[in-house]
Amino acid sequence: MSEMVIETSNLTRRYGKKVSVNNVNLKVPKGSIYGFLGPNGAGKTTTIRMLLGLIRPTSGHIRIFNQDLSKHRMPILRRIGSLVESPSYYGHLSGYENLDVIARLLKVPSKRIDEVLGIVRLTPAAHQTVKGYSLGMKQRLGIAAALLGNPDLLILDEPTNGLDPAGIHEIRTLIKDMPKQHGITVVVSSHLLSEIDQMATHVGIIDHGHLLFQDSIEKLREQSSPKLFLQVDKPHEAKRLLQDAGFKVSIQGDNLQIPNSDLSVTEEINRQLVQAGISVYRISEQSRSLEDIFLDFVDKEGSL
Ligand SMILES: Nc1ncnc2c1ncn2[C@@H]1O[C@H](COP(=O)(O)OP(=O)(O)OP(=O)(O)O)[C@@H](O)[C@H]1O
Ligand SMILES: [Mg+2]
Repeated sequence: MSEMVIETSNLTRRYGKKVSVNNVNLKVPKGSIYGFLGPNGAGKTTTIRMLLGLIRPTSGHIRIFNQDLSKHRMPILRRIGSLVESPSYYGHLSGYENLDVIARLLKVPSKRIDEVLGIVRLTPAAHQTVKGYSLGMKQRLGIAAALLGNPDLLILDEPTNGLDPAGIHEIRTLIKDMPKQHGITVVVSSHLLSEIDQMATHVGIIDHGHLLFQDSIEKLREQSSPKLFLQVDKPHEAKRLLQDAGFKVSIQGDNLQIPNSDLSVTEEINRQLVQAGISVYRISEQSRSLEDIFLDFVDKEGSL
């Protein structure tokens, strides 16, 4: 059993009648990069705000670093760095000067400013004014600010929002280094699985306030079991024949689709079709992408 950095129990937040976060039991293992995924309005920011003590849960509990957040607020928050929504800066000050303002508040030595600028690769632009920074540079400055206090946990709410692929890549590279190089556990939210699938070790999928899936990224990948696609000359006849033989078959366009195939199944299906005088033009195997799996989870919830 690995140690958990964050553990919530039945975490719930209502706004009037609306339940924005509904009995969520998050488990974020120490040293993980936890991808917190969900479409717009799913409840990601609301959950993150509760983890950061910015809003109170309507009900439920939050434990961070094995302590109750409601009882040990300050010592816990001192160990967390965060980036929620687009951070605001003094545009007329340089990146360095902006960090200096925060460093003074946190009582962090000024050599830490150089360190965090180095980590987010902003050293060359340290003394340019922030109003001349690109969006990606501003996001990296936000991460630098989150790192100033030497956190054990970094919580980033959609840090790649609005960035181009190069900017997304930079942030991803940065986040990937955190657990190994800096001993930091990371929670990073996103509405695109493709954006975090290359860096996350663990995934939580939230929609309509419900946590629909939570496990390692490997466990999520296991769900993308391959399917068999068959192109035949008489699809409806073929479907009936295979169904009578006990296969689960659906028709997708001109293709027959059969889940969970293995080689012996493929052979058996092919033999039966050919014996019945059905021409098989093509047999192929396709796995669902992680994005498809993610959308499946989200769609199921939407149709409840
Ligand atoms: N202060 C508030 N008052 C009323 N409703 C709110 C408030 N904050 C959030 N909500 C509602 O709670 C739900 C979840 O919102 P939240 O911002 O947590 O979603 P999100 O997953 O962060 O979405 P996005 O990807 O758009 O940032 C939404 O339906 C939202 O309208
Ligand atoms: Mg949000």
